[in-house]
Order: sequence, then C-alpha cells, then structure tokens
Amino acid sequence: MSNRGNFGSKLGIVLATAGSAVGLGNVWRFPYMTGQNGGAAFLMIYIVCIFLLGVPGMLSEFIIGRHGQANAASAYDKLSGGRPWKLVGYLGIVTGTIILGFYAVVAGWCLEYLFASLSARTLGDAQYVSEYFGNFVSNWWRPMVWGVAFLLLTHVVVVRGVRQGIEKASKWLMPILLVLLVVLVVASCMLPGAMEGVSFLLKPDFSKIDSHVMLEALGQAFFSLSLGTACLCTYASYFSKETNLLHSAVQIAFLDTFVAILSGLMIFPAAASVGISPDSGPSLIFITLPNVFQQAFGSQPVVGYVISVMFYALLVFAALTSTISMHEIGTAFFTEELHLPRRKSAWIITATTAVICVLCAWSVGAFSGLQVLGMSLMDCCDGLTANVLLPLGGMLACLFVGWYVPQKVVRDEFTNQETVNRRFFQIFIFAARYICPLGILFVFLHQLGVL
Ligand code: TRP
Repeated sequence: MSNRGNFGSKLGIVLATAGSAVGLGNVWRFPYMTGQNGGAAFLMIYIVCIFLLGVPGMLSEFIIGRHGQANAASAYDKLSGGRPWKLVGYLGIVTGTIILGFYAVVAGWCLEYLFASLSARTLGDAQYVSEYFGNFVSNWWRPMVWGVAFLLLTHVVVVRGVRQGIEKASKWLMPILLVLLVVLVVASCMLPGAMEGVSFLLKPDFSKIDSHVMLEALGQAFFSLSLGTACLCTYASYFSKETNLLHSAVQIAFLDTFVAILSGLMIFPAAASVGISPDSGPSLIFITLPNVFQQAFGSQPVVGYVISVMFYALLVFAALTSTISMHEIGTAFFTEELHLPRRKSAWIITATTAVICVLCAWSVGAFSGLQVLGMSLMDCCDGLTANVLLPLGGMLACLFVGWYVPQKVVRDEFTNQETVNRRFFQIFIFAARYICPLGILFVFLHQLGVL
C-alpha cells in the first residue's frame, strides 16, 4: 500500500472524490451542453440520468475499487480471476487519459483568465469580451502553454504526494466556491432582462427532446460524476472499510448536481441580459462571465475585480482536484502493474496527455485543420469519450458487479459486512443488473436510430 500514495483521513478521501466530481464539468461543460440542447428539458433528463443511472454506476465502481484495493485494471482482474474483464480497466485508463488531455485545454483557459483578470484585461463590453476570447484561443502558443502548465501543476501534486494538503484545502475552498457561485447567481439574475435566461433553464420545452439530447445528457451526467473511467474505482481503492458507499455516492451526486444548476443559473441569465446566445458552445462561460463581473458590479469596480479574481482562482482549484483524479488512474496503473517508480509512471501520463492537450488546443484555434470525422480534434475527443466511452465503461461496471461478481462479495462491500444499508441492497442490485445497463443501451440504440 505504501507506494499507492495515501489519503489522510476517511473524510479526506470522500472529499477528494467530491473534488474529482466537481470541476469544469459542472461550471463549463454543463452550461454549454444545456445551452446547446434546449435548456430545461435537457436539465430534467440530466437529473434522471444522474440518479437512475449514475448513482448505481458510482456504487458499482466503488465496490470494485474498494474490494480490489488496487488500480483499475488489477481491481477488475482480482475480482474476475483474469477474465477479459480486465479490459474494462484498460478501457477506463485510456478514456481517462484522453479526457485529461482535452480537459487540460479548458483548465488552461481558466489559468489564462485568472491571470488576465488579475490585470483586469478581460474587462470591456460584450463585444470586446468575445473578441478577447477569440484572439486568445486562436493564438498558436498561449493556449498550449497554459494547458501544458496545468498538466505540470497536476503532475507535481500527484508525484509529490502533496494531495493531503490539497484535500485539506478543498475542505475550505469548495465551500467558498459555493458561496461565490451563489453571489454570482444573485448578481446575474439581477441584470436587466435576466429572467429570460432563468426560464430557459427552468421551463422545459419537451419538443426539444430527441435521441441526441438524451445521449448528450447521459454523457454529461457521467462526465460530471467522473463515472465510467474507473476513476471512482481507483479512488475507492483508497477508501476505508468504514466508508458508507451509498451515502457517499448519493451525497456526491447531490452536491455535483447542485453545483451544475448553480452554474447554469449564473450563466444563462447573464447571457440573456447581454445578448449572448445560449448555444455558443465551449466558449459560453468565457464570453459570459466577464460581463457578469463588469456589469453586475459596475458601480463597485473593486468588488467586481476581487470577485472575478477569486472566482477564476477557485475554478482553477476545482479543475485541479479533477485533473489529479484523472492523472491518478494511469499513474496508479503503471506503478502497480508495470512496477515502475511512481515518478516515472506519472511522467508517462503527463507526457501523453500533454501531446493530446497541445493537439486539441490547436484544433480549436490556430490549426483548425486538425479534424477527425468532420469535427475538431477537441470536439471529437470530447464527444467520443463523454457520449460513447463513459456510458460504455459505466455500463460494463454495472454488468460486472450485477452479474459477474459473487453476490456475497458485493453485499459485503455494499453493507460494510452487514452493518449498514441492508435495506437498499436489493434495490441496488436490481439497478446494477437491469436499470442502468438497459437504460444506457436504450439511449445508445435510440441514438443509432434502432429504437
Ligand atoms: N467530473 C469532473 C468534472 O466534472 C471531470 C472528471 C474527473 C472526469 N475525473 C473524471 C470525467 C473521470 C470523466 C472521468 O469536471
């Protein structure tokens, strides 16, 4: 166990898991996905996906990880005696590495905005703000440098084992982020014409729902919960025997959804107020937020300045707790499976993800010819992982726990040796066997036009 890095307290690891879940997926990806998929109707399907499919998926990964007490691949291996299930672990490691690659691009954008907000460079009218973003992203080296810098930051934390410090800090910083989000929600909703944005997020128009919207909601739910890459499995391998898996999964799912909704309530009213279209795509928060800081705090520029700097700093921090979790999937794997020193394993992941990150950053900026299947490489990595590989990984985790692992083992993990949650076990098994796999299959087939 000693080279597996260690998390201080029981609370520490559950916080770390929450930190993994809450990140750019909530503040950046959720608003832009919701904006592109019609608003409130998307939000409703998203919530159904989180609780009906996501929570059983999380529990399955928790069970595999805590029982296996090892990296993702060997956790599957141990529980299945070397059958091909190990491939699910590999799949998770590959998916996680791709996600880390493009995630770092956006995390790099946040770093840029942190520094730009320090020198108040992002402030201006709506047009200036959107041009600022465009110029920045299309620069050939700035997004690349920030993205790689973010990966190096993650690398240092993962290698130095200063994670305990990060977890302790997150105990304070996460609540501050929440408070700040609430402040910004209020500020954004008070802007003129903001209510249109609120109703976009809260008043469903069911005619907007089609099979693609369902797939995007499913992908977003899994992305946001960090589900489907064995990331949760890896973290659960550090859980203590007393951790209540059901409580942790439900708590994290609520927290994660709450942060996503707050982010939506911060972005859409402001976007409506300054006339930014909700379906602007990945740039949405970056072209909307500076307007909030500027307009809502127009009469007190100092307050606006302080809030903007704090907000980007906290966003960077939230992204960091997520990138650490993605990095750890591969690092733990190389360290334990190939018996490489932890430092070396971490370098393999950092180098691989840096290459993906640079290519993705270029594909949405300076070198837009970097396309796959008619999409930018970045969109392709994002769509392929979130909409295909994550649901697939989550589904396989459920099938594995529901059908393959002996029920006694699953029950012992779920109930902590018959001490907690005994009443819920049958419901969980039913969800893992049927609801989650069939739900995901339904969405897949629907998208393919089969159903
Ligand atoms: N859930 C994180 C977020 O919302 C991103 C993330 C961290 C993730 N680890 C993951 C996504 C593993 C998929 C798989 O920002």
